Formats: sequence, C-alpha cells, structure tokens
Amino acid sequence: MARLKKQTTIKKSGSRTKTVETRQPITETYRHPTSESLMRPEIGTQTQFRKKKPPVTYRYDSSLSPSLEWDEQNSVRELGEWLLSLIEKASGLPAPHEFKNPQEFKSPDGRIILTVRSLHDAVEQLKHISTPFLNWTGKAERLSFDVPTLPLFVHERLSTKAIVETLVGHKKDKQIDLDLFGDPHHSITDQILKAYEYKDKWVNRLVLGDSLVVMSSLLHYEGLGGQVQMIYMDPPYGVKFGSNFQPFVRRRDVKHNEDEDMTREPEMVKAYRDTWELGLHSYLTYMRDRLLLARDLLHPSGSIFVQISDENLHHVKEVMDEVFGESNCVSVIQFKKTAYQETDLIANVCDFLLWYAKDLKTVRVNQLYKPRDVDMIEAGFTWIKLDNGKIIKAPSQLLDDPSGSKRFQSSNLTSQGYSPEGSLPFEFKGKKYDIGNNRHWKTHRQGLETLSMVGRLFAVGNTLTFKRYEKDFPFAPFNNMWEDTVRSTFAAGKLYVVQTNTKVIERCILMTTNPGDLVLDPTCGSGTTAYVAEQWGRRWITIDTSRVPLALARQRLLTATFPYYELKNPEMGPAGGFIYKRKQNNKGEEVGGIVPHITLKSIANNEPPQEEVLVDRPEVENKITRVTGPFCVEATIPTPVDWEGNGIEDSGAPEATDYSSFIDRMLEVLRRSPVLHVGGNKTVELRGTRKPAKTLSLSAEALVANGDEKPVAIVFGPENGAISEKLVFEAAREAHAKSYAHLYVVGFAIQPGARNFIENAEAVSGVPATYVQATPDLMMGDLLKNMRSSQIFSVCGLPEIEMRKTKPKAGEPEKYEIELIGLDVFDPVTMEVDHRRGDDVPAWLLDTDYNGLCFHVCQAFFPRTSAWDNLKRALRATHEESIWDHLSGTVSAPFEAGEQGQIAVKVIDDRGNELLVVKSLSEAKK
Ligand SMILES: C[S@@+](CC[C@H](N)C(=O)[O-])C[C@H]1O[C@@H](n2cnc3c(N)ncnc32)[C@H](O)[C@@H]1O
Repeated sequence: MARLKKQTTIKKSGSRTKTVETRQPITETYRHPTSESLMRPEIGTQTQFRKKKPPVTYRYDSSLSPSLEWDEQNSVRELGEWLLSLIEKASGLPAPHEFKNPQEFKSPDGRIILTVRSLHDAVEQLKHISTPFLNWTGKAERLSFDVPTLPLFVHERLSTKAIVETLVGHKKDKQIDLDLFGDPHHSITDQILKAYEYKDKWVNRLVLGDSLVVMSSLLHYEGLGGQVQMIYMDPPYGVKFGSNFQPFVRRRDVKHNEDEDMTREPEMVKAYRDTWELGLHSYLTYMRDRLLLARDLLHPSGSIFVQISDENLHHVKEVMDEVFGESNCVSVIQFKKTAYQETDLIANVCDFLLWYAKDLKTVRVNQLYKPRDVDMIEAGFTWIKLDNGKIIKAPSQLLDDPSGSKRFQSSNLTSQGYSPEGSLPFEFKGKKYDIGNNRHWKTHRQGLETLSMVGRLFAVGNTLTFKRYEKDFPFAPFNNMWEDTVRSTFAAGKLYVVQTNTKVIERCILMTTNPGDLVLDPTCGSGTTAYVAEQWGRRWITIDTSRVPLALARQRLLTATFPYYELKNPEMGPAGGFIYKRKQNNKGEEVGGIVPHITLKSIANNEPPQEEVLVDRPEVENKITRVTGPFCVEATIPTPVDWEGNGIEDSGAPEATDYSSFIDRMLEVLRRSPVLHVGGNKTVELRGTRKPAKTLSLSAEALVANGDEKPVAIVFGPENGAISEKLVFEAAREAHAKSYAHLYVVGFAIQPGARNFIENAEAVSGVPATYVQATPDLMMGDLLKNMRSSQIFSVCGLPEIEMRKTKPKAGEPEKYEIELIGLDVFDPVTMEVDHRRGDDVPAWLLDTDYNGLCFHVCQAFFPRTSAWDNLKRALRATHEESIWDHLSGTVSAPFEAGEQGQIAVKVIDDRGNELLVVKSLSEAKK
C-alpha cells in the first residue's frame, strides 16, 4: 500500500515557531498479492531436481495438413474421391447420417490423415480441400513436433526498492530484505522436494531460453495454459539472417550479414539457424510452432499481437489464420515507425500488428480514446454555430480557432430498415422530412420532438440530421491506423537496435488487459513489453534467447521510474483496479479519466449522459515515485542426463553414451583449433591432443607449445549444462595422481563452486587448473564457417574484487564495502594477467549475503552509463545525491554482514556473459 512518510519541520516565522507537517516522496512498487505462481527451484539445486518430464509432442490439426493439396502424387484427388464415396454411403444412412465407426483416410505409410464421422463431416472436408492454403517446404512432413519439457530455475532476484533501501542505509534484517525481493524464502529441502508444488506470491519474470521451450515449460510444469491475457510477439521479421539481434550490449549499429556482428551465443545462433536454414520456409515453421503454444497459453478472452513488417505480413497472417482461425482476426493495425525514408519509389514508413483473439466471441477489449482534435476535419465537424445563433459552413481557419462558437458535425439521424412507426415522415420548422421505406429514425417520435426543442436538429437540403457538438464527447476511438508512433531519432533511451516504441505496446496492453492481468512477450529484446506492463500494473513474463537483450532489459527495468496510479483497493494491488475521476481544467476541458458522453439517445430520452472511462488516465499520486516491483531472472538448465530416465541420479557428470560422442567432437575441434585465447593478444597452443590411455575422469591430454615438458590434462564440461565442482574435483584428483602439469577445464558454463575450486586447485588438489570458456558456437555445427580458430577457446576472466571493512561510525555496526578492481584473465603458461578495469564493464551486481543458490541483486552498478539518473532525479528531494555515485562506479555502498557471511559479485561483460565470484566476508581487509 502506498505510504507517505510524514516529517515534522520546525519553521521560524518572526518570533513565532510553527510546526509544519510535510509529506515526502518515497519509492513504492506494485505487488500482486492476489496472484500466485508455482514455486520454481533456485539455481544450484538442479543436480538434485527429480521431477523430470518427458518431451511434449504438439500436433497440428491434420485436417489443415498441406498433404491435402492437389499435389503431384494426386493424394488429394484420392482423398476427394474417398470423401465422395463416403458422402454417397452416408446419405443412405438414417439421419443424422453418422457412421457406426469413424472412417479413416491413411497415407501410404499408415499415418491417419483424416477422420470422418458423418455425412456433415465428409461434406465439410470436401469443401475444405478446395480452399487454398499456404504451403511451404517441410510443412507437410511436420504434422507434429517434440519440445523438451524443462523446468525453470531462478537465477536472480531483483528489487529496485531493496537497492534504494540499502543505499540510504536502512537497517534491515534479512527477512525484510527477502520480502523486498519477493523471495518466498523456501528451505533447500523444500526447493528440492516441493518444487512446482507450493504456490508462492506472484513476482514478474525475465526468462532466458528459447521461447518454444520456455512456453512449453510454462504449460507443462506450471499449468499456465489459458491464463495469459495478452501476448505481444515481436519476432525477427524473417528478412535477413542476423538482422534482428544485437550481439553487443553497447552497439546499436548492427549491419545485416556482417560476420563480426553475428552473435556467438548458442541459443541465439540455434534460434537463427533453426529459423533460416531454409529461409522463409523455416521462418514460417518457426512462427507456426510458437504461435501454436502461444494459443494454448491464452485465456479464452485473451489476445495476441504479432509485430511484423510488410515483407512477411501476408505470410504471417496466413499462418495466424491457420493457427487461430480466420474468424478470430480482430484487426491488422498499421503503425508509423519512421517519419521519413529516402527512396526513389515510395517511402515505407509503417510496420504492422496482427491482432488475433483466442476466440472473437469471448474476447475482452477496452475501447481506447484519443482527444478529438487532430482529425477534426476528417471527422466531419465542419459546421459552426456562431455566438449569434447563426450556422455557417466552417472556413478552415475557424476550425482551428472556433473562439466561443460551437463546432458540430451533421450526423445521420436514421438507420437502415423499415418500421411502421419509426419510418413515418417528421415535420421540422414547417417542412416534412420523408425518409422512404427502408429507413427508420434513430429515436422515437417523442425523442425527435425533444431533439427539435433543444436545437439538436439540422437540415442539410432535404435531409434532417442530428447536430453532434464536438463537446458532446471530445474524444475519438482509436482505429487501426496509428500515425503518432514514430520514435524521434533524438528521443532519449533507445537501448536496443530493434526496440519497439512504448506507445505501440502500451496501446495493445491497455486495449486488451486490465490491471493485474498476465502479459507475455516471448521476444523480450530490451524489455519494452515488460516495461509497459510494469508501468500499467500488469503481471508479466518475458523471454529471450540471448543474454545481450536480457542484460539490457534487466538494466532498463531496474532503473525505471513510473507514475503511481492510485489503487481502488490497495489490499488487492493493481488487480483491484485504478481510481478514475471526472476533472475539468479552467478552460472547461475534460482532463480526468471519467468523461461524460452526450449522445443522441441520452438527449432524446432526457437521460443523464453516459460516462466513459479513459483507461489511460487513472489518478496519479504525484508525491510517490514508483519503481519496478521485484522480479526474477530464470532460465532453463537442460541437465545432461537423459530426461526420459525419470529420477536418474545426476551427479553433474554427463550421461555416458551421449557424452562420449560429445567428447569426440570436442577433441576433434581442439585438435583443429589448438589455440586457447588468453586475451591481450596472447595465446596458449596445445600439441598432440589425444585421449588418455586409461582414465576415470579426464577427457584428453596434450603438450603445451613453449610450455612444460610434462603433458597437461583436459576435462570437458557437459554439453548442455554448467561444470560442477564434483567434475572438477574428480578430474583434479586424477590429474594430480598421474602427475600432469596442469588441468584445463573446458566448458560452456561453470557453477560458482567449480570456479572457486579451480582458483584454488593447486592448494586443494596439488595441480594448478584453468577454466577455458568454449564458444557456444561449437554446438552450431558448420553454421559459422568462417569463425577464427583463436576465438573458439578462451581463458575466461574472473572478476577481481577487493573487500574492505569500513570504519564504523560511533554506535553503528561494522560495515563492508566491495571494490570491483576489474576483470582478470590469466595466462596459464606465463601466469601473467590481462586486466580490464572495473569501470570498463557494462554492469556489475552485488549480493551482500549470497546463499550459494539464487543471486539477490542488492546493489547494481552501471559504470559506463547514467542509467540511474531518472531515479536519482526523482528522489533528489529525499535522498542525498552522493549516494548514487556508488551505483555508477566501482565501489559499493557500505553494507552490513548478513547471515551467510559471504558475498557474490556478478560482472556482465560486453557479450552479456555473466562472471561470478564468491567471497567470504572473513577475508575482508581492514
Ligand atoms: C525484434 S526483437 C524484439 C524487440 C523488442 N520488441 C524491444 O522493444 O526491444 C526480437 C527478439 O527476439 C529474440 N528471439 C529470437 N528468437 C527467439 C527465440 N526462439 N526465443 C526467444 N527469443 C527469441 C531475439 O533475441 C530478439 O531479442
């Protein structure tokens, strides 16, 4: 609930002292106390996670199969003939002409293509095969597809409020901190045994993963089918490979097809490879699969919007017609994306939104209005009643400045259709107005008299019309052409190369959802949908396959400020609705969220005007600065075990058979690309890489060019998961026993415990070890052929931090501070360090009380940008400016020790990679 902090100030006025009560602005968030979600386990518990599920098979409606096409094999001709024979047979059956057993049409390989139950079915199918449909390569074969069913793990919990409170030095015990994060604080045992059983209070969610896998997880782990009110999807437009992503956090000038701009992330490349292997054909498959799952997630009254450009508008519309049904298309909205385009032909300035309802009969839509000023001439308000009562056809300059006169539209007073009473002629100012036999007046005779009496009738030639004054309702509903959506090139804050204008998504959200409803965006990008949903008190889940946009979205949400819309029922949060009021300014203009709507009917019936709610104008409490509520970052962690082997003990080591072929592949790559990139143009070269003769835990051995004479050992981490501490421990034990000079641990991701072990390997296990990050492109086959070999393996940096005790002020408890010195990359041969300064990273995050599982972002630093400026400005009146300096620098704000006695620092590098270091507070310097 919104609270205002009271402060008592003593002011001196002459000799008298006055006590004044002021109210200070404070930060608030919206929470969703009436909504719940199933508990997801935290990262770190994945090796114990037992509730595995088999992949889910999604089937297309086979009656829509492209195999029904009149193709060369003539199978459709056969099908047609088969249907005709059924029609003949069924017509001989007694009504309702149903077969005793369903009749099946099978393909030569025995697949059931069509089932017919009755005469009606057969006739419908016969009609259906003659309707054209969109076909593409691979569609006919794809009657179904499998998606792995993976759980989501919570990696991070974020809360702007917690950051602000830490900064202003609020003394908090851990319980309150966890509440600020929306953390339900489950014990590890509960997380392992009760994951996906307990219901927790809702927190919004940023999910890293392929949209198909994540949506399937939402459906099958969490049962969210039918619960999403609105889906906004802004997929790659399916035009050019690599056009719709941004591989670097700070670069927005991505060019098509430039290899160096291509992302090197596995999920990302995979998504694009899947998408474009067969060009447009694969793109349509990609879209259809995702739309199918999106449909299952939608509530019966829900809507989906797909943003697309003109290149594929027609194709994607066909696909949506197929998935959602033609009859569920609500509209195709055209919105202006740019004011100008240089061209010799015609400027292409619009993009499109394909809006479909899950079911048009039950769809929920809020009418959105805009002030009726710009379009006035088109809207037909072309008559003016002057002060002296005279009516004139308005000259255009008067339309702009109708000082005191009343502008009106001559509006139709009749509707189609005959009615014996309602179609009779009506007399006005001595003239009879006849409306013929196929129209009727919009109101009854008494209504017409009333309209005449109050001066609302107006004759144009032989036609009697209704005078609709502009002020009757100075608003116009939005139509499907949005021209005010151009983003100025100079507009502040465009983070992402393909970022959508907030206005566009805002309208979609306001039209189709209410406060507290759930909004999903499977194409998060810089998080525009999440940002707008947060602004309007909707719950949100957003998904992206790439870490770069995810990093941008995280920063955008953490540092955002929003208006505080007053809640009708604060106990319920936004779900209880916002407060709307009728308000007029001193010019008499309606400026509130409730406006009267005078209509022909209300005047004719002498009724008070109806009131319309302008959903985008709730009451705002200006004294409160609202920040993003708690949210979490989640991801799928496909563990390397066989998912069908329910409950198989997963030791963190990969499953034997799959793993061996994976190791063979990795070995081959390492032989061909034996160079480990150390940074600062330095490299380590491996020679003679081979499998060890007999081994329990090692993957390979090699010699180092210019290095020690003794061979080094190599262990590969799992293909689809993070390297565990156990894997490193076992490899180090064997490497030491066999007197290898060094252990190289090669993988795509690593758990913090394993990272820690490697740093201390020499002391702990007797053999020095180095973590080598393998570029995830390795999993992409030959997609990126011209990848430079030195980029395949790189010795990965580790954040270098300094932890200090600060001098406590009298009576205050001991506090600590962390300094990010930089990112260090070690050269295992020379033992030299390549150093990147701490103020040269896009972001770093601090958990002041790290529990070894989920990372709680207690402080978030964006050294290169002024990301916190908005919040800093908003809170200037209450918070010392200097406290914000911490968040744009390399030294944290001081903090007290928590119960875990350890901290974690996460550094986000330019490719969105996350590098984590964990330290015990007992190591802090004085
Ligand atoms: C056009 S951008 C969305 C931009 C967003 N509307 C905004 O305002 O920032 C498309 C996004 O979809 C993501 N994407 C593409 N394929 C995906 C997939 N299969 N699963 C999840 N995200 C995907 C890309 O990484 C990219 O960030």
